Amino acid sequence: MMKYILALDQGTTSSRAIVFDQDGSIVSAAQKEFRQIFPQSGLVEHDAQEIWSNQLGVAQEAITRAGLRATDIAAIGITNQRETVVIWERKSGRPIHNAIVWQDRRTALLCDQLRAQGLEALFVQKTGLLIDAYFSGTKARWLLDHVPGAREQAERGELALGTIDSWLVYNLTGGECHITDASNASRTLLFNIHTGEWDDELLRILEIPRSLLPEVRPSSEVYGETSPGLLGARIPIAGMAGDQQAATFGQACVEKGMAKNTYGTGCFMLLNTGGQAVPSQHKLLTTVAWTIRGRTDYALEGSIFVAGAVMQWLRDGLGIIRDSAEVEALAASVPDNGGVYLVPAFVGLGAPHWDSYARGSIHGLSRGSTRAHIARAALESVAYQTADVLQAMQQDAATPVRELRVDGGASRNDLLMQFQADVLGVPVVRPQVTETTALGAAYLAGLAVGYWESEQQIARQWREERRFEPRMGEDEREALLSQWRRAVQRSTAWERP
Ligand code: G3P
Repeated sequence: MMKYILALDQGTTSSRAIVFDQDGSIVSAAQKEFRQIFPQSGLVEHDAQEIWSNQLGVAQEAITRAGLRATDIAAIGITNQRETVVIWERKSGRPIHNAIVWQDRRTALLCDQLRAQGLEALFVQKTGLLIDAYFSGTKARWLLDHVPGAREQAERGELALGTIDSWLVYNLTGGECHITDASNASRTLLFNIHTGEWDDELLRILEIPRSLLPEVRPSSEVYGETSPGLLGARIPIAGMAGDQQAATFGQACVEKGMAKNTYGTGCFMLLNTGGQAVPSQHKLLTTVAWTIRGRTDYALEGSIFVAGAVMQWLRDGLGIIRDSAEVEALAASVPDNGGVYLVPAFVGLGAPHWDSYARGSIHGLSRGSTRAHIARAALESVAYQTADVLQAMQQDAATPVRELRVDGGASRNDLLMQFQADVLGVPVVRPQVTETTALGAAYLAGLAVGYWESEQQIARQWREERRFEPRMGEDEREALLSQWRRAVQRSTAWERP
């Protein structure tokens, strides 16, 4: 009897569920956006209960759309927006506060203080991360410090903490499993990526009781089963990874030296560095890619906070397009950016700047500038930010990155992908299945239950759809990038505390 794998992809702006077959092809998919809560500038929250019900809803929908029953699903793989933190009561399963989202900057000041105490080198060495409000640790500390009674409850062992993977598994298993995987743990500032364990010294510094934390498990293993009432039968949950690591796996970047870039809400470039945790000299992150069959692979990562979200902002904030797809036509209606540069530092800047206080800006407006130039500048900003990260990566990596595999929503945009190849000077390669995040989670789950045999088999299933070769001359590339860097310079340190 034919079986399938169900991947749950809980992203920053929507929850998705995709059913895959043995070839790694999509059988059915369901997706639902959910509420973004912006209490004030720089703050971003999600309702964790809404995330759970919305994720369960799309899981049921994807199974039904495929004309399947729960018994046809061999395993579930979970992948998720990373760093976002939820704390909930163990007894009732109720979150004590909205989830604090990875984009949220509320702990920027605390991060400044930790840095001023000279702690950055310690965190970098142990976690591979920098001290930044992006990561979960300081967000968790904020919740314990600000939600009335939370710290006392935590000390009594009544609370559980988790990133979104933990939250989903906890709910899927009816509260039986409080776990995470090493790739998600490696984004918290609390996890030692060299020993593979929560780090007591870091927990002490951030004042987070160990009893709150989930157990860290491999990225591919049967962890438990779904409660029978949820999807119609018990289904093994067998794979788990942060969305960027899952996309790296789904892109079959399983060999050292292979790199991918995902164009989602943000943009995340990961370079597989094999079994070695390579420290960065250029403000990239060293992170766990995955732990499979007792082996941990690492990656260098460049995290860009706003990419696809800039298209959303053109739609919802500025109202100059009706849907994100329109941006390509609008941007293509002008031959170039007309000297306009948009720096989408809406929530500060990530790699390689790490400036929590940067804010967005538009430069070079003239009397002739139109909404098309702004759309073009928005689109180009995604490519320029990626170019800045690739430059840092080329400097850190022992061998040059020869091609960049791309995926995520905006990778469907041909204009953007050609421009990307042009400003990188490196070929950009798009696979047939661009839902690589979900596919990666499916592969991790499928490997654990023997649905797929090996990473080699998975790598053989990867197929190229289109290759974008760089066509731009060196002078033009340099001119664009140097104007872009001037614009970035002017956006930095805007919101000083
Ligand atoms: O680190 C944040 C990242 O995991 C979010 O990914 O796809 O939801 O933008 P995405």
